[in-house]
Amino acid sequence: DANDLSKGTYDSYMLKEIDEQPAVLRRISEYYYSSEQDKLAPQLLDDLQKADRLYIVAAGTSYHAGLVARQLFEELADIPVEVQLASEFGYHMPKLSAHPFFIFLSQSGETADSRQVLDQVRHLNYPTLTITNVINSTLAREAEYSLPLCAGPEVAVASTKAYIAQIAVQAILAQKLGLRKKIAAASELDVAQQLGLAANAIQTIVDQKDYLEQLSHDYFAQQNAAFFIGRGNGYAVAIEAALKLKEVSYVHAEGFAAGELKHGTIALIEEQTPVVAFILEQSTAAHTRSNVKEVLSRGAHTLIISKQSLAQEGDQLVVADLDERLMPLVAIVPAQLFAYYTAVERGNDVDQPRNLAKSVTVE
Ligand code: G6P
Repeated sequence: DANDLSKGTYDSYMLKEIDEQPAVLRRISEYYYSSEQDKLAPQLLDDLQKADRLYIVAAGTSYHAGLVARQLFEELADIPVEVQLASEFGYHMPKLSAHPFFIFLSQSGETADSRQVLDQVRHLNYPTLTITNVINSTLAREAEYSLPLCAGPEVAVASTKAYIAQIAVQAILAQKLGLRKKIAAASELDVAQQLGLAANAIQTIVDQKDYLEQLSHDYFAQQNAAFFIGRGNGYAVAIEAALKLKEVSYVHAEGFAAGELKHGTIALIEEQTPVVAFILEQSTAAHTRSNVKEVLSRGAHTLIISKQSLAQEGDQLVVADLDERLMPLVAIVPAQLFAYYTAVERGNDVDQPRNLAKSVTVE
C-alpha cells in the first residue's frame, strides 16, 4: 500500500517504493480521471491557455521529470517549454516570454532553491502552479495553484515513485490543456490507457528482480564508473538513471546524449566500462545502436534497454511499448533496480545514502 508508512516485509523503503510504482500510476489515473469533480480547476486551465510559454522549475530528480514533460506539453498542448534548474534560474533569470506560466515540480514541496524562484516570480505577478507529493507543503501553499502527485509518502532519500508520478501528472495536465486548446495530438493519445499499460509494464520489470540483481552484479558492483546513453527521452532517462546509481551505490555515473559521446566522452571508455543504452524511439534507434557498437569495439561492457518494437536479438532488457513520449515511465525502472542492488551488494545504506538529505532547505 503506497500510503503505508511502515516498511512491511521490505528491508528498505527504496525497494518498497520501487515496487509501489504500478499502484501509484493506477492511483493517479483514479484521482485525475474517474472522480466526479474535475481535479483541474477551470481557472488553472484558463491561465495555462493564456500562457505563451511554460517554465518548469525544479531540482534533482524532479528536474529530470521536467525534462520528460517538455515534449508532452509541447506536442500535446502546443506550447513552448523551458525546463530550468531552480538553483540556476534564481540567480540568472533568462529573458522571459510575454506571458509566462511557472510550474514548480517538487516531491517535498520544501526545496529552498525552488522556493526562492517562486518568491521572485510571485513578485512579478506571474501565474504559478506547484506539482508536489506534499499537498500542505510550502511550495504548494505559496503557489497560486497546486496539484498532488498521489504517490504516497516517499521515505527513501533516492526518489523513485515520485519521478514517475511527476511524469504521469504532467502528461495528464498536458493532455487536458491540449484538449481544451483543441490540439489534435491531445485527442489522439489516450493518457489514461497509457498509464494502465505503463503500470503493467513496470510490474513485469519488478517481477524480474533476480535477473536485475544478477545484471547489477555483473555490470556495476565491481566498477568505479558507469555511463548511460540515449537520445531524446532516452537521454532524459539516462541522466536520471545515472543520478540513481550515484546516489545510492556511489559508483561514479554519468548520463550522456548518445550523439555527444564521440565529441569527448568516448575517451573515458576502458575495458569493461559499463555503458547502458536506452533505445526508446524509432527515429534515433539506429544511431544509438551505432554508438553502442563504437563503445563495444573499445571494450565497453554494454547493456541495452530497448522497447519491444525496437528490440533486437541480444538486448539485455526489453520493456513493453508505450507511446514514445511516455517510455521514461517504464525505462527508468530497471535503472532504479540497478542502483538498489548495486548499493546492497556494496553494503551501503540504501535509504539514507551518505551526504544526502530527502529535502534540501538551504540554497
Ligand atoms: C534532494 C533529494 C532529491 C530530490 C531533490 C529535489 O536533493 O535528495 O532526491 O530530487 O532534493 O527535491 P524535491 O523535493 O524538490 O523534488
